[in-house]
Amino acid sequence: MKKTSLWKDDAEASRYPFLQEDLNVDVAIVGGGITGITAAYLLANAGKSVAVLEARDIGGSTTGFSTGNLYATVGEMLKKLQLKFDTETIHAVAASRTAAVQQIENIIQGFSLECDFHRRPWRLLSETGDNDKLIEKEHKACLDAGLDAHLDSTTPLPFNISKALRVEGQAQFNPMQYVKALAARIHGTGCTLFENTPVIRITEGSPNILHTENGAVTADKIIHATHSPKGVFAIHALLGPYREYAIAVKLNSGSYPEGIFWVRSDSNHYSIRSYTSRSGENYLLVLGESHKVGHKTDNEICYQNLEAYIRDRFDVKSVDYRWSAQSYKSADGLPYIGATNDKANVYIATGFAADGLTYGTLGAMIISDLILGIENPWSKLYDPRRHNPLKSAGRFIKESIHVFMDYMKDIPYKAEVDRLSGILPDEGKTIDIKGEKFAVYRDEAGELHQVSAVCTHMKCIVNWNEEEKSWDCPCHGSRFTVDGQVIEGPAIVDLPKREANNQH
Ligand SMILES: Cc1cc2nc3c(=O)[nH]c(=O)nc-3n(C[C@H](O)[C@H](O)[C@H](O)COP(=O)(O)OP(=O)(O)OC[C@H]3O[C@@H](n4cnc5c(N)ncnc54)[C@H](O)[C@@H]3O)c2cc1C
Ligand code: FES
Repeated sequence: MKKTSLWKDDAEASRYPFLQEDLNVDVAIVGGGITGITAAYLLANAGKSVAVLEARDIGGSTTGFSTGNLYATVGEMLKKLQLKFDTETIHAVAASRTAAVQQIENIIQGFSLECDFHRRPWRLLSETGDNDKLIEKEHKACLDAGLDAHLDSTTPLPFNISKALRVEGQAQFNPMQYVKALAARIHGTGCTLFENTPVIRITEGSPNILHTENGAVTADKIIHATHSPKGVFAIHALLGPYREYAIAVKLNSGSYPEGIFWVRSDSNHYSIRSYTSRSGENYLLVLGESHKVGHKTDNEICYQNLEAYIRDRFDVKSVDYRWSAQSYKSADGLPYIGATNDKANVYIATGFAADGLTYGTLGAMIISDLILGIENPWSKLYDPRRHNPLKSAGRFIKESIHVFMDYMKDIPYKAEVDRLSGILPDEGKTIDIKGEKFAVYRDEAGELHQVSAVCTHMKCIVNWNEEEKSWDCPCHGSRFTVDGQVIEGPAIVDLPKREANNQH
């Protein structure tokens, strides 16, 4: 079994250089996921000079660890949004997301990109009568939002369902292959792509400067296409970071159901789809078991639950891949897309929840329109500076309480061990050494990896992630390797290395 995403294993290797000189462009984009690469395409296509600075490989972060489903509905449910806002809002959400899926299809057709794109129905299912009401309400909301929605009592799945909602005309693709193929088409056409080029400092101003280890990029406009914006933004208090898990299995029967299947219960949500790899192998993917980042140390259990769930329903031959990834939920259920200030020179696109292949594309469409001075029908709806405290209240209070509790937890901070010798091989623990908080991992060879346990974003204390061997911050979702390098999240600076001898 491979511990990586099916998409990553099925994609071509990276091939762009790292930045080695200073550059001056109209627009600099931090991050080469679906949001950054789509924005780069739209802006370069309109005549802007663009540079994309990607810390690792194009498409290799959340985009390449997603499910590859494209739909006009939303994970939080349109019904919930309708109750919080109104019918006009869910109509606009569905219309804007439909336009984004269409944009993806247009790009694929325009460039003849090979990324296994197919129009497929999206289904929301209940397995027991307990959740039928939820399906019926969501059906009504889908109709109110103008979608082609139907109620069914059967599906192509091999297990019993109680009720199913079907929306026609949605889509699926290989998300990483799409982003890599699009990147290959735009590189060198007014747009330059750099990989292995983390931005380590951002100076906002006129112009803005993005600093990297071997060069700086000066730009009139910058776009944080980094899933969560880099550095300290007020918006971070309104974002809840969640981790989710995926496995890809092979079946004994040759029958792999086509389409997007979401199975809902009161306590959980599973997403099921199939995929045929470029070498012709069939896989069934199942995703679920979401929890707040940094709030679960033993996440091996999440994979076990996914496997048990799928084995109960399908004749599984083997589990071939497993991976996890992160999403950020906004306080009011709508993403934050647009300028962060009145000078309109810094843009963010975040808060997509697990709907961000479509929202990321939409974010790129809205931000490129804003930069190009083109009126966009949805820019106000998703404006990061929108002011709707009541609509945000429920989630905002919940997210803020989590963040606050994590700060509080830090104040009467209690180290997990009091001696380095208390850390066993392949274990990560926090320890207090001479009043300083260390995060220490002892590798299987017995060597200690010691870093500061204080998150470089806003000083919360990181927690150990047993399965992924990383230090995860429970406040805004920054994650670090055992040697302190930023993996993802808003932190821009690595955890500083520390050294205490084994006598401690
Ligand atoms: C398990 C899971 C399944 C999902 N499935 C779906 C789905 O089926 N459909 C859907 O619509 N959405 C799905 N999503 C959500 C979707 O994957 C994301 O919202 C989307 O991929 C975000 O794209 P992005 O380009 O904004 O971010 P990313 O793909 O994360 O790209 C951001 C990039 O920024 C780079 N970066 C970060 N910091 C720096 C820095 N300092 N310097 C330079 N570069 C930097 C990163 O390396 C990364 O490549 C899923 C999410 C999860 C967690
Ligand atoms: S991610 Fe914000 S404090 Fe760690």
